[in-house]
Amino acid sequence: MATKISVKIRKKRDVDSAEIVKLVNLLPEYFPEPNLGAIETNIDSLRGFVAIFDNEIVGFISFLIKSNNAEIYAMAVHPSFQRCGIGQRLIEAMEETLRSQGIKRVQVNTLAETPKFANFQKTRKFYAKLGYKEKAYFKDTADSSIEILVLEKTL
Ligand SMILES: CC(C)(COP(=O)(O)OP(=O)(O)OC[C@H]1O[C@@H](n2cnc3c(N)ncnc32)[C@H](O)[C@@H]1OP(=O)(O)O)[C@@H](O)C(=O)NCCC(=O)NCCS
Repeated sequence: MATKISVKIRKKRDVDSAEIVKLVNLLPEYFPEPNLGAIETNIDSLRGFVAIFDNEIVGFISFLIKSNNAEIYAMAVHPSFQRCGIGQRLIEAMEETLRSQGIKRVQVNTLAETPKFANFQKTRKFYAKLGYKEKAYFKDTADSSIEILVLEKTL
C-alpha cells in the first residue's frame, strides 16, 4: 500500500478537459482507441470531479445520470499517484453528490477477467473494495472476445 496523500477534490470544469485527456493518455493499456477518442469527445458534457495536487490534475471521475440511476463514464488516477487513496476520494465525492440528489444506484462497466487485459484485475479490486457488486456480463459489440462486467452499488 502506498502512502495516502492529501489532494483537493473539486467539481470538474470545462477548462479541465485538456488536462484530463492528457492524463488519460498516460494510461493507454486502460484507454485504447476508440475509448480514448470517445472520452475526448464527451468529457466536456459530463459531470465529474477532479483531484488536484500541486496545481495539477492527478485524478478524475466523470459520470452521467439516467433517470434515477447514475453511471460512471470514466475515471483514472495518474500512474505515479495510484494507490494513494485518490480514487476512493473521487468515488466518495461523486456518491455524496448523487445521494444528495436522491440517486439510489450507480453502475459502472469494466472488463471481466481476460488475459488480454490482465491489468483490469486492479480496477475490479478497486471497485469491489468500494462496494461495487457484480451485476451482469455482456460481450463487447465491437469485439466479441471481450467481456464487459457491469458493477452496481446501491447508495
Ligand atoms: C482504478 C483506479 C482509478 C483506482 O484509483 P487509486 O487512487 O489507485 O485507488 P485507491 O488508492 O483509492 O484505492 C482504494 C482501495 O482500492 C483497492 N485497490 C486499489 N488499487 C488496487 C490494486 N492495484 N490492487 C489491489 N487493490 C487495489 C485497495 O483496497 C485500496 O485501498 P488500500 O490501498 O487502502 O488497500 C486507478 O488505479 C486507475 O486509474 N487505474 C487505471 C484506470 C482505470 O482502471 N480506470 C477505471 C476504469 S474506467
